[in-house]
Amino acid sequence: MDLYIDTANLDEIKQAADMGVLDGVTTNPSLIAKEKYDYVKRLTEICAIVKGPVSAEVISTEYAGMMEEGRKHAKIAPNIVVKLPSTIDGLRACKTFSDEGIKTNLTLCFQPLQALMVAKAGAFLVSPFIGRLDDVAEDGMDLIRKIRAIYDNYGYKTKILAASVRHPKHMVECALAGADVATVPFSVIKQMMGHPLTDVGLKKFLEDYKKAFGG
Ligand code: E4P
Repeated sequence: MDLYIDTANLDEIKQAADMGVLDGVTTNPSLIAKEKYDYVKRLTEICAIVKGPVSAEVISTEYAGMMEEGRKHAKIAPNIVVKLPSTIDGLRACKTFSDEGIKTNLTLCFQPLQALMVAKAGAFLVSPFIGRLDDVAEDGMDLIRKIRAIYDNYGYKTKILAASVRHPKHMVECALAGADVATVPFSVIKQMMGHPLTDVGLKKFLEDYKKAFGG
């Protein structure tokens, strides 16, 4: 399973990359707005650190604007993936980019047929938003399971990127459901490598050792 970080914050990206298990980065307009920083400059900085896929989202809602923005983003670095909304215009742009060999991430996917359509259009990634579905009393994980079944039925190569991940339990369930990738806030990445019994056990080992040998 690939692990991406869901942030436009450079410090978080550096810290996650230093852990040695970071495969890519996703950004979105809200995340870059939080940074109050130029988007193109930040994407350039991110691509200098992470060699795996880096998603750069368009803000246009119409096909022509998406194509213009996406083409500019794609020139930033070879690992840029153009992030498009799961709308009819996004689908058209996805098809054109795919035909041109430019990778795409179709975001804001909330139902299985959006995932089917974008796979047909050659999307590299599809991003089902599990946390936001849970927020409105739906079942985000059920969407992941349905997309997995559809893609496996027909052999679609589009990767399922679980997005809007809120906590470690989402991660366990995504891994069990066969999501190809999960994009995760830095806080959750840190939680993935922790357990209170690890901390207690480590403390006890060191205390026992010191008691016996000093130091
Ligand atoms: C995915 O690419 C999005 O950036 C992200 O996962 C959205 O998550 P949120 O629902 O926590 O904003």
